[in-house]
Amino acid sequence: MLKTVHLASDHAGVALKSTLIEHLATQGYAIQNHGANSIQSCDYPVYAQALCKAVLAHGDLGILICGTGLGMSMMANRFRGIRAAVCTNELLASTSRRHNNANVLCLGERIVGVGLALAIVDTFLQSKFEGGRHQGRLAMLDCNLDG
Ligand code: RB5
Repeated sequence: MLKTVHLASDHAGVALKSTLIEHLATQGYAIQNHGANSIQSCDYPVYAQALCKAVLAHGDLGILICGTGLGMSMMANRFRGIRAAVCTNELLASTSRRHNNANVLCLGERIVGVGLALAIVDTFLQSKFEGGRHQGRLAMLDCNLDG
C-alpha cells in the first residue's frame, strides 16, 4: 500500500505544490497538505514545522517547497529524526533516499522547472534506503552538538 505523503510550502512554493498534489493523487498516494494555501507572503518555518511534526508522528515522507528549498531545509533539519535534502536533480533525489534515508524532500519552485520537479519527486518516493554501512552514519547525525 502506498503511504501518505505530506506536503507544505510557503507562498513561493504554492503553485508547484498544487501541481505535485495533482500529480501524486493520480498515482494513488494519500496526501496531507499542511499549507500554505495562498500566494500571500508568509513565513516558511511555520509550514516546515507543521510538516516535520506530522512526518515524525506518522513515519511518512514529506515534501517542502519554498522559493529555493533552502529555508525549508534549514528549519526541517533542526528536528531530531528529520533528514531533509534539497534536491535539484534525480541523482540527488535517489541518493538522498538510498544513502541518507532522507525523509523530507525540499524543492525550490524558483530553481527547478515543473517537469524536473515531477521527476525528482517520483525518484525520491520510489527510491529505498540501502541500510548497511549507511545505518551507523545516520545514527551519528543524531549526536548532541550543544557544546
Ligand atoms: C521567499 O521570498 C523566499 O525567501 C523563501 O521562499 C525561501 O526561498 C527561503 O529560503
